[in-house]
Amino acid sequence: MRRLHPRSLHPSITQIQRRLREREKLERERRNRQAFPEAHRLRRLPLYLFSILDELKAQARREGIDVIDLGMGDPDIPPPKHVIDELVKRGRRPENHRYSRKDGEVEQRVTEAIAAWYQRKFHVSLDPKTEVLPLLGSKEGIAHLSLAFLNHDDIALVPSPAYPVHFNGIILAGGILYSIPLSAERGYLPDLSTINREVLKMAKMLFISYPNNPTTAVADLKFFKEIVAWARKYHIMVVHDFAYSDFVFEGPRAPSIFEVPRAKEIAVEFHTLSKSYGAPGLRFGFAAGNREILASLAKTKHYVDFGIFRAVQWAAIQALTGPQDDVRRAVDTYRKRRDVFVPGLRRIGWDVAMPKGTFYVWAKIPRKFSALTSLEFATLLMHEAGVVVAPGSGFGENGEGYIRFALVEPAPRLREAVKRIERVLRMQD
Ligand SMILES: Cc1ncc(COP(=O)(O)O)c(C=O)c1O
Repeated sequence: MRRLHPRSLHPSITQIQRRLREREKLERERRNRQAFPEAHRLRRLPLYLFSILDELKAQARREGIDVIDLGMGDPDIPPPKHVIDELVKRGRRPENHRYSRKDGEVEQRVTEAIAAWYQRKFHVSLDPKTEVLPLLGSKEGIAHLSLAFLNHDDIALVPSPAYPVHFNGIILAGGILYSIPLSAERGYLPDLSTINREVLKMAKMLFISYPNNPTTAVADLKFFKEIVAWARKYHIMVVHDFAYSDFVFEGPRAPSIFEVPRAKEIAVEFHTLSKSYGAPGLRFGFAAGNREILASLAKTKHYVDFGIFRAVQWAAIQALTGPQDDVRRAVDTYRKRRDVFVPGLRRIGWDVAMPKGTFYVWAKIPRKFSALTSLEFATLLMHEAGVVVAPGSGFGENGEGYIRFALVEPAPRLREAVKRIERVLRMQD
């Protein structure tokens, strides 16, 4: 495939580059003009790429383009009917509209449901009173965890690329972010032996997440055993974001870190109803594991939120304790989509890796377009194909050179996306 160099770029690419530069300039000017300048911690955050994509998407829709949106990991498969029914039924009851209270009936039942779910799924025992903490979605909990633990001279270790709140939470909390580069050659597992002793001395937390967003990598129990041994040796807290616990397409199911003996001494694990139960709007997630860590997270949250709508907690109980067939069906649907989309991309000459888990495809930008940044390439796909994707740079510096597709549209739309992408890949051929 011939490679496009910036000088020989298709006119629409140069236009896109100009537009993106203008947008960045406007953003800088907006910040400088602010009557009440934002705190430094906000200025230190990287640009939130999804908001740029949202703008571009809105613009494309205004222009009448039929957008195929594979940008955000926003599941299109709805929650199970029994979960929605429970939400509606409980939402009708006035008592469920009062503030949530730790000693209330649903508040106790939901932690018991979480512990029972863990036992069934991973054969892990948790004390529902102290080793489980419900959250307003897992993103909130992950961000608040950094706030609860990081001082200005504490280092938090985060693989790169990563789900953005892993590093943005650290920046917001004012801690020091140390990135561990991930590579395809190592199966996107972090090489902890590359971290020097001085960094290890100052390191307080390590974030990991498998099945992994955005790389789609999965990890086995051996990996978690090594992580637990390492963390106990250096006394570092392990934060395992387990949002995609159900999303493994081949081989054994994904293990919980707590299947490793003594992991509770150093680890917490985060879960969400957003992916497995197709319920990102419910805002229900939970953390489990080390009781002292969870107590500090709960304490932080006491100062900033008032808990979870009770009707949502009742619905969460239904999700976790009711039939799990819908979860299996959803994972199966995502697998079928993968099996349509990945061979489709390969047929048009884009040799992407077959994901083992999650519902994403992590794709290296074709060589011909490697002169473009991932944001430029994502913008090109949007303009020329009406296909929205997430630029890899949004997941940290090591995500540059890649884009991420979220398979959150049905198979016929994915086939259509492949057809449109083919036109872009043939540009200037
Ligand atoms: C790895 C990972 N963790 C957490 C979340 C956030 O989930 P929630 O909806 O529970 O905040 C996401 C959402 O995309 C994710 O990909």
